[in-house]
Amino acid sequence: MKNKRILIGVTGGIAVYKVVDLISRLKKQGAEVKVIMTEHATKFVTPLTFQTLSKNVVYTDMFASLSNMDVEHISLAKWADLILVAPATANTIAKIDLGLADNMLTTVLLAKRSPVMIAPAMNTYMLNHKATQDHLKNLEKNGYIILPCDQGLLACGDAGSGKLLAPEKILEAIQDHFTVKDLEGVDIVVTAGGTREPIDPVRYIGNRSSGKMGYAIAEAAKKRGARVHLISANSSLPVPEGIDYIPIETTEELYREASSLFDSCDVYISPAAPADYRPKDYFDQKIKHKDQEALSINLTSNPDIIKNLAKRKKKQIMVAFAAESQNLVEHAKEKLESKNVDFIVANNIKKKDAGFATDTNIVTIIDKDSAIDYAKQTKKDLAEIILNKIVKLLG
Ligand SMILES: Cc1cc2nc3c(=O)[nH]c(=O)nc-3n(C[C@H](O)[C@H](O)[C@H](O)COP(=O)(O)O)c2cc1C
Repeated sequence: MKNKRILIGVTGGIAVYKVVDLISRLKKQGAEVKVIMTEHATKFVTPLTFQTLSKNVVYTDMFASLSNMDVEHISLAKWADLILVAPATANTIAKIDLGLADNMLTTVLLAKRSPVMIAPAMNTYMLNHKATQDHLKNLEKNGYIILPCDQGLLACGDAGSGKLLAPEKILEAIQDHFTVKDLEGVDIVVTAGGTREPIDPVRYIGNRSSGKMGYAIAEAAKKRGARVHLISANSSLPVPEGIDYIPIETTEELYREASSLFDSCDVYISPAAPADYRPKDYFDQKIKHKDQEALSINLTSNPDIIKNLAKRKKKQIMVAFAAESQNLVEHAKEKLESKNVDFIVANNIKKKDAGFATDTNIVTIIDKDSAIDYAKQTKKDLAEIILNKIVKLLG
Protein backbone atom coordinates (compact mmCIF):
# COMPACT_ATOMS: atom_id res chain seq x y z
CA MET A 1 0.00 0.00 0.00
CA LYS A 2 3.04 2.28 0.30
CA ASN A 3 2.46 5.54 -1.59
CA LYS A 4 -0.74 4.27 -3.18
CA ARG A 5 -3.02 7.26 -3.75
CA ILE A 6 -6.51 6.64 -2.52
CA LEU A 7 -9.26 9.18 -2.97
CA ILE A 8 -12.19 8.56 -0.66
CA GLY A 9 -15.64 9.94 -1.41
CA VAL A 10 -17.67 10.15 1.79
CA THR A 11 -21.43 10.55 1.43
CA GLY A 12 -24.24 11.30 3.89
CA GLY A 13 -24.95 8.01 5.67
CA ILE A 14 -24.85 7.13 9.32
CA ALA A 15 -21.81 4.87 8.75
CA VAL A 16 -19.52 7.88 8.01
CA TYR A 17 -17.81 7.44 11.38
CA LYS A 18 -16.47 4.00 10.31
CA VAL A 19 -14.52 5.62 7.49
CA VAL A 20 -12.52 7.51 10.15
CA ASP A 21 -11.16 4.12 11.28
CA LEU A 22 -10.55 3.00 7.68
CA ILE A 23 -8.48 6.11 6.90
CA SER A 24 -6.36 5.61 9.97
CA ARG A 25 -5.70 1.98 8.89
CA LEU A 26 -4.81 3.10 5.34
CA LYS A 27 -2.37 5.71 6.65
CA LYS A 28 -0.69 3.09 8.87
CA GLN A 29 -0.19 0.96 5.73
CA GLY A 30 1.64 3.87 4.08
CA ALA A 31 -1.14 4.95 1.67
CA GLU A 32 -1.72 8.58 0.71
CA VAL A 33 -5.33 9.55 1.31
CA LYS A 34 -7.43 12.47 0.13
CA VAL A 35 -11.08 12.93 1.03
CA ILE A 36 -14.07 14.48 -0.71
CA MET A 37 -17.22 14.88 1.38
CA THR A 38 -20.70 15.56 0.10
CA GLU A 39 -22.51 18.39 1.86
CA HIS A 40 -24.75 15.84 3.60
CA ALA A 41 -21.74 13.83 4.83
CA THR A 42 -20.51 16.93 6.71
CA LYS A 43 -23.70 16.81 8.80
CA PHE A 44 -22.47 13.55 10.37
CA VAL A 45 -18.71 14.16 10.87
CA THR A 46 -16.81 17.41 10.37
CA PRO A 47 -14.21 17.72 7.58
CA LEU A 48 -11.67 18.55 10.30
CA THR A 49 -11.69 14.90 11.46
CA PHE A 50 -10.83 13.61 7.99
CA GLN A 51 -8.37 16.44 7.40
CA THR A 52 -6.46 15.59 10.58
CA LEU A 53 -6.33 11.86 9.82
CA SER A 54 -5.56 12.09 6.11
CA LYS A 55 -3.16 15.03 6.61
CA ASN A 56 -4.71 16.62 3.55
CA VAL A 57 -7.30 19.31 2.83
CA VAL A 58 -10.82 17.87 2.61
CA TYR A 59 -12.80 18.84 -0.48
CA THR A 60 -16.44 19.74 0.04
CA ASP A 61 -17.23 22.57 -2.36
CA MET A 62 -16.43 22.47 -6.05
CA PHE A 63 -16.44 26.26 -6.36
CA ALA A 64 -14.27 27.08 -3.37
CA SER A 65 -11.01 25.64 -4.50
CA LEU A 66 -9.53 27.62 -7.33
CA SER A 67 -6.85 29.08 -5.01
CA ASN A 68 -3.93 27.40 -6.83
CA MET A 69 -5.44 27.93 -10.29
CA ASP A 70 -5.86 24.17 -10.59
CA VAL A 71 -9.17 22.77 -11.75
CA GLU A 72 -9.47 20.64 -8.65
CA HIS A 73 -12.04 18.09 -9.82
CA ILE A 74 -9.83 17.21 -12.80
CA SER A 75 -6.54 17.16 -10.88
CA LEU A 76 -8.06 15.00 -8.13
CA ALA A 77 -9.34 12.50 -10.70
CA LYS A 78 -5.82 12.40 -12.23
CA TRP A 79 -4.16 12.04 -8.80
CA ALA A 80 -5.99 8.91 -7.63
CA ASP A 81 -4.79 5.33 -8.10
CA LEU A 82 -8.14 4.21 -6.72
CA ILE A 83 -11.34 6.02 -5.81
CA LEU A 84 -13.39 4.55 -2.98
CA VAL A 85 -16.91 5.76 -2.23
CA ALA A 86 -17.68 4.82 1.40
CA PRO A 87 -20.25 4.92 2.73
CA ALA A 88 -22.08 5.18 -0.58
CA THR A 89 -25.64 6.41 -0.11
CA ALA A 90 -28.51 5.28 -2.34
CA ASN A 91 -28.65 8.85 -3.61
CA THR A 92 -24.99 9.03 -4.67
CA ILE A 93 -25.06 5.51 -6.17
CA ALA A 94 -28.00 6.59 -8.37
CA LYS A 95 -26.20 9.78 -9.39
CA ILE A 96 -22.99 7.97 -10.33
CA ASP A 97 -24.91 5.51 -12.50
CA LEU A 98 -26.83 8.32 -14.21
CA GLY A 99 -23.67 10.32 -14.81
CA LEU A 100 -24.79 13.35 -12.84
CA ALA A 101 -22.15 15.85 -11.81
CA ASP A 102 -23.80 18.14 -9.28
CA ASN A 103 -21.16 18.17 -6.54
CA MET A 104 -17.40 17.72 -6.15
CA LEU A 105 -17.60 13.94 -5.69
CA THR A 106 -19.92 13.10 -8.57
CA THR A 107 -17.99 15.48 -10.84
CA VAL A 108 -14.64 13.85 -9.98
CA LEU A 109 -16.25 10.44 -10.59
CA LEU A 110 -17.32 11.54 -14.05
CA ALA A 111 -13.74 12.61 -14.78
CA LYS A 112 -12.27 9.40 -13.29
CA ARG A 113 -9.21 7.70 -14.74
CA SER A 114 -8.73 5.06 -12.07
CA PRO A 115 -10.81 2.11 -10.84
CA VAL A 116 -13.71 2.99 -8.53
CA MET A 117 -14.77 0.88 -5.56
CA ILE A 118 -18.20 1.45 -4.05
CA ALA A 119 -19.12 0.41 -0.50
CA PRO A 120 -22.91 0.85 -0.18
CA ALA A 121 -24.50 1.44 3.23
CA MET A 122 -28.19 2.00 3.79
CA ASN A 123 -31.41 0.63 5.19
CA THR A 124 -32.28 -2.86 3.89
CA TYR A 125 -35.40 -1.64 2.07
CA MET A 126 -33.42 1.13 0.36
CA LEU A 127 -30.79 -1.42 -0.67
CA ASN A 128 -33.35 -3.91 -1.97
CA HIS A 129 -35.33 -1.26 -3.87
CA LYS A 130 -35.35 -2.07 -7.57
CA ALA A 131 -33.89 1.34 -8.43
CA THR A 132 -30.86 0.84 -6.14
CA GLN A 133 -30.34 -2.75 -7.30
CA ASP A 134 -30.55 -1.69 -10.97
CA HIS A 135 -28.00 1.08 -10.42
CA LEU A 136 -25.61 -1.28 -8.62
CA LYS A 137 -25.92 -3.88 -11.39
CA ASN A 138 -25.31 -1.26 -14.07
CA LEU A 139 -22.28 0.09 -12.26
CA GLU A 140 -20.83 -3.42 -11.86
CA LYS A 141 -21.42 -4.09 -15.56
CA ASN A 142 -19.52 -0.91 -16.31
CA GLY A 143 -16.45 -2.00 -14.35
CA TYR A 144 -17.09 -0.42 -10.94
CA ILE A 145 -16.06 -2.67 -8.05
CA ILE A 146 -19.11 -3.10 -5.80
CA LEU A 147 -18.30 -4.28 -2.29
CA PRO A 148 -20.91 -6.33 -0.45
CA CYS A 149 -22.77 -5.02 2.60
CA ASP A 150 -22.55 -6.63 6.02
CA GLN A 151 -25.69 -8.02 7.65
CA GLY A 152 -26.97 -7.14 11.11
CA LEU A 153 -28.84 -4.62 13.16
CA LEU A 154 -28.91 -1.30 11.32
CA ALA A 155 -28.77 2.15 12.90
CA CYS A 156 -32.45 2.70 11.98
CA GLY A 157 -33.44 -0.34 14.11
CA ASP A 158 -34.19 -2.68 11.18
CA ALA A 159 -32.16 -5.86 10.82
CA GLY A 160 -30.80 -7.21 7.54
CA SER A 161 -28.33 -6.38 4.82
CA GLY A 162 -27.18 -2.79 4.35
CA LYS A 163 -24.46 -2.23 6.96
CA LEU A 164 -21.24 -0.74 5.66
CA LEU A 165 -18.65 -3.50 5.20
CA ALA A 166 -16.33 -3.49 8.24
CA PRO A 167 -13.27 -1.19 7.82
CA GLU A 168 -10.84 -4.12 8.06
CA LYS A 169 -12.67 -5.89 5.23
CA ILE A 170 -12.69 -2.74 3.06
CA LEU A 171 -8.95 -2.43 3.73
CA GLU A 172 -8.49 -6.06 2.66
CA ALA A 173 -10.43 -5.43 -0.57
CA ILE A 174 -8.18 -2.42 -1.30
CA GLN A 175 -5.04 -4.46 -0.56
CA ASP A 176 -6.28 -7.27 -2.82
CA HIS A 177 -6.94 -4.73 -5.55
CA PHE A 178 -3.30 -3.58 -5.46
CA THR A 179 -1.77 -7.04 -5.03
CA VAL A 180 0.43 -7.92 -7.99
CA LYS A 181 -0.83 -11.13 -9.59
CA ASP A 182 2.63 -12.62 -10.03
CA LEU A 183 1.44 -16.20 -9.44
CA GLU A 184 -1.24 -16.13 -12.14
CA GLY A 185 -1.65 -19.61 -13.63
CA VAL A 186 0.72 -21.25 -11.11
CA ASP A 187 -0.62 -24.45 -9.50
CA ILE A 188 0.33 -24.64 -5.82
CA VAL A 189 -0.24 -27.39 -3.28
CA VAL A 190 -0.03 -26.24 0.34
CA THR A 191 -0.32 -28.55 3.33
CA ALA A 192 -1.36 -27.25 6.75
CA GLY A 193 -2.13 -28.34 10.29
CA GLY A 194 -1.18 -31.40 12.28
CA THR A 195 -2.18 -34.97 11.48
CA ARG A 196 -3.96 -37.24 13.96
CA GLU A 197 -3.14 -40.93 14.16
CA PRO A 198 -6.06 -42.82 15.69
CA ILE A 199 -5.50 -45.23 18.58
CA ASP A 200 -9.16 -46.15 19.14
CA PRO A 201 -12.47 -44.43 18.27
CA VAL A 202 -11.79 -41.79 20.96
CA ARG A 203 -8.04 -41.19 21.17
CA TYR A 204 -5.33 -40.21 18.75
CA ILE A 205 -1.69 -39.20 18.65
CA GLY A 206 -1.47 -35.61 17.46
CA ASN A 207 0.71 -32.52 17.56
CA ARG A 208 0.38 -28.82 18.29
CA SER A 209 0.32 -27.47 14.73
CA SER A 210 -2.62 -25.05 14.23
CA GLY A 211 -2.36 -24.64 10.46
CA LYS A 212 -1.81 -20.86 10.69
CA MET A 213 1.35 -20.84 8.54
CA GLY A 214 -0.16 -23.03 5.80
CA TYR A 215 -3.41 -21.09 5.72
CA ALA A 216 -1.50 -17.78 5.50
CA ILE A 217 0.48 -19.11 2.52
CA ALA A 218 -2.64 -20.50 0.81
CA GLU A 219 -4.49 -17.21 1.21
CA ALA A 220 -1.57 -15.07 0.04
CA ALA A 221 -0.91 -17.32 -2.97
CA LYS A 222 -4.58 -17.18 -3.97
CA LYS A 223 -4.51 -13.37 -3.79
CA ARG A 224 -1.42 -13.35 -6.00
CA GLY A 225 -3.29 -15.28 -8.67
CA ALA A 226 -2.27 -18.90 -7.99
CA ARG A 227 -4.54 -21.92 -8.26
CA VAL A 228 -4.27 -23.25 -4.70
CA HIS A 229 -4.97 -26.71 -3.28
CA LEU A 230 -4.94 -26.65 0.52
CA ILE A 231 -4.59 -30.05 2.16
CA SER A 232 -5.64 -29.27 5.69
CA ALA A 233 -5.07 -31.56 8.65
CA ASN A 234 -7.48 -30.91 11.50
CA SER A 235 -7.31 -27.13 11.49
CA SER A 236 -10.20 -25.06 12.84
CA LEU A 237 -9.23 -21.93 10.88
CA PRO A 238 -11.72 -20.39 8.42
CA VAL A 239 -11.15 -21.72 4.90
CA PRO A 240 -9.83 -19.00 2.54
CA GLU A 241 -12.23 -18.24 -0.30
CA GLY A 242 -11.64 -19.50 -3.83
CA ILE A 243 -9.25 -22.35 -3.07
CA ASP A 244 -9.50 -26.12 -3.49
CA TYR A 245 -9.90 -27.23 0.15
CA ILE A 246 -9.06 -30.85 1.00
CA PRO A 247 -9.62 -31.74 4.67
CA ILE A 248 -7.77 -34.84 5.91
CA GLU A 249 -6.98 -36.43 9.26
CA THR A 250 -4.04 -38.83 9.11
CA THR A 251 -0.55 -38.78 7.59
CA GLU A 252 -1.50 -41.57 5.19
CA GLU A 253 -4.45 -39.50 3.94
CA LEU A 254 -2.18 -36.47 3.58
CA TYR A 255 0.25 -38.56 1.55
CA ARG A 256 -2.52 -39.93 -0.68
CA GLU A 257 -3.96 -36.47 -1.46
CA ALA A 258 -0.54 -34.85 -1.96
CA SER A 259 0.54 -37.71 -4.18
CA SER A 260 -2.49 -37.35 -6.44
CA LEU A 261 -1.88 -33.59 -6.89
CA PHE A 262 1.91 -33.61 -7.08
CA ASP A 263 2.62 -34.43 -10.74
CA SER A 264 0.47 -31.61 -12.10
CA CYS A 265 1.50 -28.94 -9.58
CA ASP A 266 4.22 -26.32 -10.08
CA VAL A 267 4.94 -25.67 -6.41
CA TYR A 268 4.64 -27.87 -3.31
CA ILE A 269 4.82 -26.12 0.07
CA SER A 270 4.54 -28.24 3.20
CA PRO A 271 4.24 -26.45 6.53
CA ALA A 272 1.93 -29.23 7.82
CA ALA A 273 3.20 -31.38 10.67
CA PRO A 274 2.61 -35.00 9.72
CA ALA A 275 3.30 -37.64 12.37
CA ASP A 276 6.46 -39.68 11.91
CA TYR A 277 4.79 -42.70 13.54
CA ARG A 278 1.27 -44.08 13.91
CA PRO A 279 -0.15 -46.82 16.17
CA LYS A 280 0.56 -50.21 14.59
CA ASP A 281 -2.87 -51.55 15.51
CA TYR A 282 -6.15 -49.65 15.63
CA PHE A 283 -8.49 -50.70 18.43
CA ASP A 284 -12.05 -50.99 17.10
CA GLN A 285 -13.52 -50.39 20.57
CA LYS A 286 -12.56 -47.79 23.14
CA ILE A 287 -9.64 -49.06 25.24
CA LYS A 288 -10.87 -49.53 28.83
CA HIS A 289 -8.86 -48.71 31.90
CA LYS A 290 -8.35 -52.09 33.54
CA ASP A 291 -6.35 -51.16 36.60
CA GLN A 292 -3.13 -52.04 34.86
CA GLU A 293 -0.04 -50.00 35.71
CA ALA A 294 1.01 -49.40 32.13
CA LEU A 295 -0.29 -49.71 28.62
CA SER A 296 1.98 -50.08 25.60
CA ILE A 297 1.04 -48.96 22.14
CA ASN A 298 3.29 -50.16 19.35
CA LEU A 299 4.10 -47.58 16.71
CA THR A 300 5.00 -48.06 13.10
CA SER A 301 6.67 -45.60 10.76
CA ASN A 302 4.62 -43.33 8.48
CA PRO A 303 5.79 -42.62 4.92
CA ASP A 304 8.26 -39.74 4.53
CA ILE A 305 5.95 -37.68 2.31
CA ILE A 306 8.36 -35.01 1.09
CA LYS A 307 11.19 -37.45 0.42
CA ASN A 308 8.89 -39.74 -1.57
CA LEU A 309 7.34 -36.91 -3.57
CA ALA A 310 10.75 -35.36 -4.29
CA LYS A 311 11.74 -38.58 -6.08
CA ARG A 312 9.05 -37.75 -8.66
CA LYS A 313 10.17 -34.12 -8.91
CA LYS A 314 10.33 -32.69 -12.45
CA LYS A 315 9.43 -29.00 -12.74
CA GLN A 316 8.18 -28.66 -9.15
CA ILE A 317 9.61 -26.18 -6.68
CA MET A 318 9.47 -27.79 -3.25
CA VAL A 319 9.54 -25.99 0.08
CA ALA A 320 9.83 -27.90 3.35
CA PHE A 321 9.52 -26.67 6.92
CA ALA A 322 11.62 -27.72 9.86
CA ALA A 323 10.49 -27.15 13.42
CA GLU A 324 13.57 -27.75 15.52
CA SER A 325 14.39 -27.37 19.18
CA GLN A 326 18.18 -27.42 18.74
CA ASN A 327 20.93 -27.12 16.06
CA LEU A 328 18.45 -25.44 13.73
CA VAL A 329 20.63 -24.68 10.70
CA GLU A 330 22.59 -27.91 10.89
CA HIS A 331 19.43 -30.06 10.97
CA ALA A 332 17.75 -28.01 8.26
CA LYS A 333 20.79 -28.36 5.96
CA GLU A 334 20.71 -32.13 6.42
CA LYS A 335 17.01 -32.11 5.58
CA LEU A 336 17.60 -29.92 2.50
CA GLU A 337 19.98 -32.54 1.08
CA SER A 338 18.29 -35.73 2.21
CA LYS A 339 14.87 -34.62 0.98
CA ASN A 340 15.98 -32.86 -2.22
CA VAL A 341 13.87 -29.72 -1.73
CA ASP A 342 14.59 -26.20 -3.03
CA PHE A 343 14.57 -24.48 0.33
CA ILE A 344 13.70 -25.01 3.95
CA VAL A 345 11.94 -22.66 6.32
CA ALA A 346 13.33 -23.55 9.72
CA ASN A 347 12.20 -22.24 13.07
CA ASN A 348 13.28 -22.84 16.61
CA ILE A 349 10.10 -23.83 18.42
CA LYS A 350 11.68 -23.03 21.77
CA LYS A 351 11.82 -19.31 20.96
CA LYS A 352 9.04 -17.08 22.29
CA ASP A 353 6.51 -16.01 19.56
CA ALA A 354 7.73 -18.70 17.16
CA GLY A 355 6.39 -22.07 16.07
CA PHE A 356 3.03 -23.66 16.74
CA ALA A 357 -0.27 -21.79 17.14
CA THR A 358 1.31 -18.31 17.33
CA ASP A 359 0.53 -15.50 14.85
CA THR A 360 4.24 -14.78 14.46
CA ASN A 361 7.34 -16.75 13.62
CA ILE A 362 11.12 -16.32 13.73
CA VAL A 363 12.72 -18.30 10.93
CA THR A 364 15.86 -19.00 8.99
CA ILE A 365 15.40 -19.71 5.29
CA ILE A 366 18.00 -22.13 4.03
CA ASP A 367 18.83 -23.06 0.45
CA LYS A 368 21.95 -24.64 -1.01
CA ASP A 369 23.79 -21.28 -1.16
CA SER A 370 22.61 -19.40 1.91
CA ALA A 371 21.00 -19.36 5.34
CA ILE A 372 19.16 -16.10 5.98
CA ASP A 373 17.81 -15.21 9.44
CA TYR A 374 14.57 -13.24 9.54
CA ALA A 375 13.49 -11.14 12.52
CA LYS A 376 10.10 -11.85 14.13
CA GLN A 377 7.35 -11.56 11.48
CA THR A 378 3.65 -12.20 11.32
CA LYS A 379 2.89 -15.47 9.55
CA LYS A 380 1.09 -13.39 6.89
CA ASP A 381 4.25 -11.38 6.17
CA LEU A 382 6.33 -14.53 6.20
CA ALA A 383 3.95 -16.08 3.66
CA GLU A 384 4.72 -13.16 1.31
CA ILE A 385 8.49 -13.61 1.85
CA ILE A 386 8.24 -17.32 0.99
CA LEU A 387 6.12 -16.60 -2.10
CA ASN A 388 8.55 -13.87 -3.23
CA LYS A 389 11.35 -16.44 -3.13
CA ILE A 390 9.21 -18.88 -5.11
CA VAL A 391 8.39 -16.23 -7.74
CA LYS A 392 12.16 -15.67 -8.18
CA LEU A 393 12.77 -19.41 -8.56
CA LEU A 394 9.93 -19.66 -11.09
CA GLY A 395 11.78 -17.04 -13.08
C1 LIG B 1 -29.70 10.34 10.28
C2 LIG B 1 -29.67 9.99 8.83
C3 LIG B 1 -29.04 8.85 8.42
C4 LIG B 1 -28.99 8.51 7.06
N1 LIG B 1 -28.35 7.35 6.70
C5 LIG B 1 -28.34 7.01 5.39
C6 LIG B 1 -27.68 5.82 4.98
O1 LIG B 1 -27.10 5.09 5.79
N2 LIG B 1 -27.68 5.51 3.66
C7 LIG B 1 -28.32 6.28 2.73
O2 LIG B 1 -28.32 5.91 1.54
N3 LIG B 1 -28.93 7.42 3.09
C8 LIG B 1 -28.96 7.82 4.39
N4 LIG B 1 -29.58 8.97 4.77
C9 LIG B 1 -30.20 9.81 3.73
C10 LIG B 1 -29.14 10.61 2.98
O3 LIG B 1 -28.44 11.43 3.89
C11 LIG B 1 -29.83 11.45 1.89
O4 LIG B 1 -30.37 10.59 0.90
C12 LIG B 1 -28.92 12.46 1.29
O5 LIG B 1 -29.59 13.14 0.26
C13 LIG B 1 -27.65 11.83 0.74
O6 LIG B 1 -26.86 12.81 0.14
P1 LIG B 1 -25.43 12.50 -0.50
O7 LIG B 1 -25.56 11.23 -1.26
O8 LIG B 1 -25.14 13.66 -1.39
O9 LIG B 1 -24.47 12.43 0.62
C14 LIG B 1 -29.61 9.35 6.10
C15 LIG B 1 -30.22 10.54 6.52
C16 LIG B 1 -30.24 10.84 7.86
C17 LIG B 1 -30.92 12.13 8.28
